[in-house]
Amino acid sequence: MQELIKKYKTEVLSFKANSEKETESFRIKYLGKNGILNKLFNDFKNIEPSEKKEIGLLINELKNLIVSKINTSQSIKTTNSNNVFFDYTLPEKPKEIGALHPLSIVENKIINIFKLIGFNLETGPEIEDDWHNFSALNMPEDHPARDMQDTFFIQKNPDLLLRTHTSSVQIRFMETNSPPIRIISPGRVFRNEDVSARSHCLFHQIEGLAIDENINFSDLKLIIQEFVNRLFGENKKIRFRPSFFPFTEPSAEVDIYWGLKTETDKKITKGTGWLEIMGCGMVDPNVLENVKIDSTKYSGFAFGMGIERIAMLLYQIDDIRLFYENDIRFLKQFQSSHIM
Ligand code: PHE
Repeated sequence: MQELIKKYKTEVLSFKANSEKETESFRIKYLGKNGILNKLFNDFKNIEPSEKKEIGLLINELKNLIVSKINTSQSIKTTNSNNVFFDYTLPEKPKEIGALHPLSIVENKIINIFKLIGFNLETGPEIEDDWHNFSALNMPEDHPARDMQDTFFIQKNPDLLLRTHTSSVQIRFMETNSPPIRIISPGRVFRNEDVSARSHCLFHQIEGLAIDENINFSDLKLIIQEFVNRLFGENKKIRFRPSFFPFTEPSAEVDIYWGLKTETDKKITKGTGWLEIMGCGMVDPNVLENVKIDSTKYSGFAFGMGIERIAMLLYQIDDIRLFYENDIRFLKQFQSSHIM
């Protein structure tokens, strides 16, 4: 048997493949089901126990030799076989570059502006409890203002809901930090509204909060004007309209004059050229007391805006549903947008 193995060994050593086909028949001859190696292993069962160790080693050695021979024949084929020529000077295939989602682009821009003005980023849970989303924000149970925000409640636990705004993050932050406070809280919010070209049951907000001694409405106006200048350019007109929010007093809504240059402008601004971009106001003293901040010593302002609306204006998108459908033709248009 030793002689036989030696003979195979010389055969294997001298084997040289000229084609894939030859390598394959070599493989079948030695490693196939009825191949030489299996026969050797079969015969191995019947040999004298004293010979087993030596012959076992020889068979294994042969097997390794065969396997490495096949491997080298195959790699020769792929790197530089007879007919395959690889031209290293060819240009690379173009890479598919992903694109940031337009909402991420706008969100990043807004966050960066507020970071430069000195605000820190805070996030919180999307599933909230009644206290952080409503009660602490001066909307006790049965307060009519709760109706303004058509809420999705969690059926099994009526105390839990999908947050309707990211003001809840402000409550969480004030509960665990003391003034001075300057934060912005971006995130996804949910309201049970009919889905149409203008509204959706989920959207994105960025809310801001500043609490310190002697903060007043003119500080708020200054910050908002600075933000608008940086996001939309220096020459945009804005106006503050008196409004109502339970958690701010006085409250206002901010409109920006965008003009009516395109059909989309007309559609988004309902033909007026003006678009409401945020709600804001001075934090109601009740809210400060709810989170144990002394309202005789501290005051502050808060504001909140929807990202979709601003993105629609900036990118001339006239249907909010496009943001959530993930149609690749829509998303690819933002490939060249500035990534901040
Ligand atoms: N939370 C308000 C909303 O979602 C926005 C807002 C924030 C208004 C802060 C005033 C102050 O509509």
